[in-house]
Amino acid sequence: MPEKIPENIKHEIERLVKELNYHCYRYYVLDSPVISDEEYDRLYNRLKQLEDDYSYSSPDSPTKRIGASPLDKFEKVKHTEPMLSLDNAFSYDDVIEFDKRINKLLETDKDVEYTVEPKYDGLAIELSYRNGLLYKASTRGDGYEGEDVTPNIRTIKSVPLKIESVAVPLEIDIRGEVYMDIEDFERLNREREEKGEPLFANPRNAAAGSIRQLDSSITASRRLHLACYGIGAVKGIELKNQIGLIRWLEKARFPIPAIVKEAKGIDNAAKVIKEIEEKRSAFPFETDGAVIKVNDFNLQRQLGVKTREPRWAIAYKYPAHQGTTKIKEIIPSVGRTGVITPVALLEPVKIGGVTVSRSTLHNWDEIERKDIRVGDYVVVERAGEVIPHVVTVIKEKRTGKEKHFPIPEKCPVCGSKVVREEGEVAVRCISLDCSAQVQERIRHFVGRQAMDIEGLGEKNVELLYSQGLIKHFADIYKLKKEDLLKLPRFAEKSAQNLIDAIEKSRHTTLSKFLYGLGIIHVGEYAAKLLSANFERLEDLHHIKAETVMEIKQIGEKIANSVTAFFSDPENIRTIEKIEALGLKITNPDFKEKKKGNLPLEGLTFVITGALPKSRKEVEEMIEELGGHAASSVSKSTDYLIVGDEPGSKLDKAKSLGVKTVTYDEMLKVIKEKAK
Ligand code: IVH
Repeated sequence: MPEKIPENIKHEIERLVKELNYHCYRYYVLDSPVISDEEYDRLYNRLKQLEDDYSYSSPDSPTKRIGASPLDKFEKVKHTEPMLSLDNAFSYDDVIEFDKRINKLLETDKDVEYTVEPKYDGLAIELSYRNGLLYKASTRGDGYEGEDVTPNIRTIKSVPLKIESVAVPLEIDIRGEVYMDIEDFERLNREREEKGEPLFANPRNAAAGSIRQLDSSITASRRLHLACYGIGAVKGIELKNQIGLIRWLEKARFPIPAIVKEAKGIDNAAKVIKEIEEKRSAFPFETDGAVIKVNDFNLQRQLGVKTREPRWAIAYKYPAHQGTTKIKEIIPSVGRTGVITPVALLEPVKIGGVTVSRSTLHNWDEIERKDIRVGDYVVVERAGEVIPHVVTVIKEKRTGKEKHFPIPEKCPVCGSKVVREEGEVAVRCISLDCSAQVQERIRHFVGRQAMDIEGLGEKNVELLYSQGLIKHFADIYKLKKEDLLKLPRFAEKSAQNLIDAIEKSRHTTLSKFLYGLGIIHVGEYAAKLLSANFERLEDLHHIKAETVMEIKQIGEKIANSVTAFFSDPENIRTIEKIEALGLKITNPDFKEKKKGNLPLEGLTFVITGALPKSRKEVEEMIEELGGHAASSVSKSTDYLIVGDEPGSKLDKAKSLGVKTVTYDEMLKVIKEKAK
């Protein structure tokens, strides 16, 4: 039972929450931290410890940002004030028209005061605060009704959980855009590509996909930002105009748009639009326009709304940056994950102030679809400030000398044979030895779900690689403390810790090792299935796809990928090299083939609520007995094991007619089946 909380502890908890929230604001909103990451972690851990020891936490505690248990569905939320969209202007004439309309409606010929700010390309969100505490966050939906995404929004570090440092309004709905920086979007896509997951088309889709996640721990793992630019319903404070609102938001520690300027008259507004256009390629996020708003809230009310768009605002869309040039050459470029991308080398051309001399052609399907050839004149576009791409070929300019560019047979970096899976557009090099991929492979290999080498994060991998200490996978196991001590980031203790972590990782399981090899489509679960069916790594050498496909739940895609990987003699040699450095690989997952003898063979279980044993233990037992432990209930679930305080999975199981059992009943099922 939790003890009654002593006053001094309560005060300490409250002080820590306040302090940590302030540092979060310094770091994530102002981008100007005043303490080190280590100091932050120390305060955080102290708070977590106290909260756990005394079972006490305040609603604005930073420990509530890490994601909650997954939901089955999103609840609907009605917006008190509708969330509107914006009319577009595609030219300066449209902007002038907008100004004329406003002058006419307001029956004035005086200069109207406007504000101008960038248009963020993300997902509109409403944050609802009551007595200063965030209690609900919802998506825009159809403008009248959105979805409750509170647990997800809480994970965004720049979202204040509590309004502080201003007079707190009784109630306020704050609106803003959740977005992802271009760099984080590209990085997320690289990671997804490696896992064989579908890619996001642009940062906006990535931000929206990250918020519309039933599992908020996934949202927590994505780097999302917020820019607040508006309010809905409000009680308890008076705000006169847009600029006053922005200043208030800033004071209340909300992140605001990168630029918000007042402009008297449309000519001055146009100047700000131009200024934002000039600066937009330097923003870390995508903007495709600027939003012009009538500053005064009374005038806004007077102007009102036409169907879904306010009459007092307009979004000016910047033209896409395009230019015409000639493809000099096409080269295959190997990415960090082994995907080979055709890249066009162009005659340099200025597009939107930037000299463009390369453009991605994405893949060979795209080359074929657009019929792109070496020597062609093409229209190139820098859309959303990401990498430029070819929009179209100007076929009228062809001379007949243009040449097709076939898929290379060998990797341009390491010379290994390339692989192209059926039905997939990507062409890949799957060699463990390819130097283009080495850092990414090592990063994956040492990850928590693989060899789990603590202290070998991305920055250290980069450092060790750039210093020539690890050129290759196997070099990790040759690292010596003396080598590390020569590097700037290592001191006696950190070097020893890393060496110890490497030592510890020598004892591993086949499934972790297999996962760590980064074979395309072989995630943790597939690695477990392979380990359950093949006792030793050698059993997979020169394996046939048909044999792999005998494993239930492994399809052709995974089987072909495994086969391709192990049929590359270089890969086998590399694995042997690593093993020779003293790896001890055991395989606790292996189940001897007594087909049908495992009592839970073919059965899928899901757990809800607290069981007498930890969830992990029960799941392991199920897997050991040949069953499959899944995380969510579906039609293919055979049993839902119901413990204390079951969650919504129970309702779902009932609605789908899935059998429910207690833990003890499950043990009986096992006994029955084992007979
Ligand atoms: S004002 C009634 N300001 O653009 C005014 N919207 O196309 C509506 N957006 O739904 C919002 N940046 O999601 C406003 N600085 C900004 C914005 C912005 C992006 C989004 C917002 C809106 C959409 C309309």
